[in-house]
Amino acid sequence: MSEHAQPFVLAGVMGWPVAHSRSPLIHSHWIAQYGLRGAYAPLPVRPDTLEAALRALPLLGFAGCNLTIPHKVAAVDIVDELEPLARRIGAANTIVVRADGTLLGRNTDAFGFIANLREAQPQWRADAGPAVMLGAGGAARAVLAGLLDAGATEIRICNRTLETAQQLAHDFASWGAARLQAVPWGERHSALAGAALLVNTTSQGMQGHAPLDIQLDALPASALVTDIVYTPLQTALLQAAGARGNPTAQGLGMLIHQARPAFEAWFGVLPQTTPALWAAVTATL
Ligand code: ATR
Repeated sequence: MSEHAQPFVLAGVMGWPVAHSRSPLIHSHWIAQYGLRGAYAPLPVRPDTLEAALRALPLLGFAGCNLTIPHKVAAVDIVDELEPLARRIGAANTIVVRADGTLLGRNTDAFGFIANLREAQPQWRADAGPAVMLGAGGAARAVLAGLLDAGATEIRICNRTLETAQQLAHDFASWGAARLQAVPWGERHSALAGAALLVNTTSQGMQGHAPLDIQLDALPASALVTDIVYTPLQTALLQAAGARGNPTAQGLGMLIHQARPAFEAWFGVLPQTTPALWAAVTATL
């Protein structure tokens, strides 16, 4: 086969700042692993130039890009077409340049969240019992969409600002058959009673932030506990859950899994997670 039989595929991640992003490492790892011709670059793009940068993608021959802070929400109003899931979440983390040069906005964070749970605990089921979600920000919207699509039956949304949790429950009320309940932050400890899943989507527990203040006593020992925070890899929440025997899923897995459908859209291969990839990303934390 000639060197030119396979096209050279260009992709990247737009963010401001973007130097911290692990996406170049993840996608470059897969390009090498699958023997593909291509490159994935960090693309520092200021918020006021996002639209021009996105419109430049087809001109530069890019297959697409990922979006990270602060571009995920702004991109929703720029793309030519937005997938329904991305519209519901209100954010796009993946852009696909189509053959005619138009831009498709997608959101793969919900997929990443669910795929990470399934990797950590293959027998996990969304309808096994109530889920408790701490937080109601941008990340919570993707987690909620993932849980509803996976068939969750009851989700307790517990947020410091109750109104935001109520708004989230309202926004997603028609999405699935699940009972969505906004829970005051003061009731977060007792809200764990009978739960089959606990997920932290707040920034609490992240390096440089205060620890997450939650007592796990009411949580059944069979409940799966996960944290979208991955710096540190093993948050105090995951440590406490593991110490009392709960199965856990680390937040880094969501980051790795959300990259898989994006890579597939651009490179035509759905890549797998491997211990080598986990080790490569973990080494940067
Ligand atoms: P992201 O897009 O990463 O989810 P965000 O939209 O800023 O970030 O959301 C942060 C979440 O962490 C929110 O649910 C926030 O609660 P509020 O809606 O009350 O702001 C939550 N959060 C931030 N600091 C918190 C704290 N000290 N205690 C509890 N929750 C906190």
